[in-house]
Amino acid sequence: MSDSITLDKHRFLKFLTELGTVDSLSDVKGKLTLLIDIMHREKKDLYGIFHTDNPDDGVILPGDYLKGEIEQILDTKTIERTRYYINRLIQGISKVKTNDVNDINLNRWKEYDSILTDSLWILPKRDSSGSHSSWYWGNFIPQIPRQLMLRYTKKNDLVVDPFAGSGTTLLECQHLERNGIGVELNKDIAEKTGTIIRQEEHGYDGIKAVIEIGDSAKIDFHLLLQKHGFRSAQLLLLHPPYHDIIPFSNDPRDLSAQAGLETFLDLFGKVIDNTYDILDTKRYLAVVIGDKYFKGEWIPLGFYIMQEVLKRKYTLKSIVVKNFEDTLGKRNQKELWRYRALAGGFYIFKHEYIFLFQK
Ligand SMILES: C[S@@+](CC[C@H](N)C(=O)[O-])C[C@H]1O[C@@H](n2cnc3c(N)ncnc32)[C@H](O)[C@@H]1O
Repeated sequence: MSDSITLDKHRFLKFLTELGTVDSLSDVKGKLTLLIDIMHREKKDLYGIFHTDNPDDGVILPGDYLKGEIEQILDTKTIERTRYYINRLIQGISKVKTNDVNDINLNRWKEYDSILTDSLWILPKRDSSGSHSSWYWGNFIPQIPRQLMLRYTKKNDLVVDPFAGSGTTLLECQHLERNGIGVELNKDIAEKTGTIIRQEEHGYDGIKAVIEIGDSAKIDFHLLLQKHGFRSAQLLLLHPPYHDIIPFSNDPRDLSAQAGLETFLDLFGKVIDNTYDILDTKRYLAVVIGDKYFKGEWIPLGFYIMQEVLKRKYTLKSIVVKNFEDTLGKRNQKELWRYRALAGGFYIFKHEYIFLFQK
């Protein structure tokens, strides 16, 4: 079957509504079987359903969605169940039902195959479409902000990323028609990122994606939002340094430059406090972070960070475990690491966390 099918919405709804009044299960199934047959042969057309004179009457549906819905009706054993599925298909075509935090049409939820809902994310390779590239050591893969934005934002919402780095979040904002404000402490990185974002061509004129140089523990986020024409944010997406694993700079305000775990967590907590008020109630805060080893001991940075957020007025909604691709350095030393793991009684990091909190 083709990827998508254009139908005359009114004729199709009329067909389905009439079908919902038929009393004989076999008659209903007979008509639907004929419909599938027409779809397969791309014939035009028994009920005029696949023929639209007026383009405004047309509705484009993924072929698999329609086929799946019709097959489900054909599989039923009772007329009541059949009517239930017919009605669901009518709703799916005629009404949009969303929750308050995204644009997913719940009446057509089966179409969103690419949106993850499991707590284990195995993302095999980096998406390097658009202006994404991996020039920045310590960036995250674009699929992370993409998944989070699709689940937790609507078009035109504002995403704030207080550890913006190379702007992966901001580029994804431009791809998904979301606004983005990023803050990055390192001036050179922020400037380079700013240039890349501005240079990327995207088709959404009203969308703003900007990066500012600053310390996210101190910067006035209200003023920052105001400066760019926003009053509040709908998603906070935080990808802080994994303490000192990658030393981003020597700046004492840099989370990666903190000598001790306590000051690292303290600064992280300040960023949580400093961003709290700009987030709309019921909206989400996502934190992406991995753990580290120190002197042969596993330091569960992820869980410390989680506790730090839970001291504030957030509710934990999910903990996602995401696979972690080998960095180039590690790949070269793979055998050495394996030997060390076997000898030292530890496991090699292969995962990081995405914590989801609701305000
Ligand atoms: C893990 S990286 C984020 C990478 C980003 N997600 C990307 O895809 O490029 C963390 C970033 O936080 C920045 N940073 C550290 N302390 C900061 C602070 N107090 N305020 C703002 N940015 C800070 C670092 O310079 C680094 O670029």
